[in-house]
Amino acid sequence: MIIRKITLMKMKAVIATDSISLLPLRGRHHPFTRPRAATLSVAITAYTFIFGVILRIVIIFSIFVKNTWFFMKVKENSIRITVGDITRLHVDAIVNAANNTLLGGGGVDGAIHRAAGPGLLEECRTLGGCPTGKSKMTSAYNLPCRKIIHTVGPVWHGGSHDEPELLASCYDTAMKIAEDNFLTSIAFPCISTGVYRYPKREAAVIALETIFKHLDSGAYNGEVIICCFTRQDAEIYEELLETT
Ligand code: APR
Repeated sequence: MIIRKITLMKMKAVIATDSISLLPLRGRHHPFTRPRAATLSVAITAYTFIFGVILRIVIIFSIFVKNTWFFMKVKENSIRITVGDITRLHVDAIVNAANNTLLGGGGVDGAIHRAAGPGLLEECRTLGGCPTGKSKMTSAYNLPCRKIIHTVGPVWHGGSHDEPELLASCYDTAMKIAEDNFLTSIAFPCISTGVYRYPKREAAVIALETIFKHLDSGAYNGEVIICCFTRQDAEIYEELLETT
């Protein structure tokens, strides 16, 4: 009788275990199923806890990375005024105040072609010129920068021949080329304010308004340098930046 009772108990234990289908017990009576169920639930709890800890670490880390990247992005987006020769700047791209032929000239155009060497003219010959307000990019040859973005500013005729819109378009299209080519440092001369006689202060307002549009929208990510050839030009920009 006693033997029958023990067997019955073991049978119940097996059925109980089998109903949660932990192990294939067909034809075998495993004497340790209850302790194994306990071990299993401890294991599941432990796994759940560890998974939860790992998940929290991943979330915290991703927030940290996102904020750091955002901070760097905000930190990098900047505009700087400098006085000097644009051909000496070690930046991704310098902008050339060219003419419609793109075949060189005086002023900053002449300085860039002289410093870059004959290879620049050869490449410019293949571009077929450039309309006023538009921009085209070439290699930089012997210059320390990586690229040259040639843009053609408007000649000043008193301001009633779309000069402001055309000048803004020079900065706009040059910034767009920089964005499309993932450039993160670009230097502008004071376009149209030399031979083309654009009033310096009006030109500076248009330049800053257009550049800030690209910086604020996040379309451009990097540094913008206004490379003035004279201290007087730089003071116009510095005064405007202080009042914005
Ligand atoms: N680095 C930086 N800025 C310079 C440099 C230089 N090496 N040389 C001149 N500049 C400045 C001038 O002082 C001016 O403020 O560039 C600005 C633009 O003057 P220009 O070069 O005369 O250009 P722009 O007024 O746009 O006239 C373009 O002049 O050189 C020709 O072929 C060019 O026909 C085009 C016309």
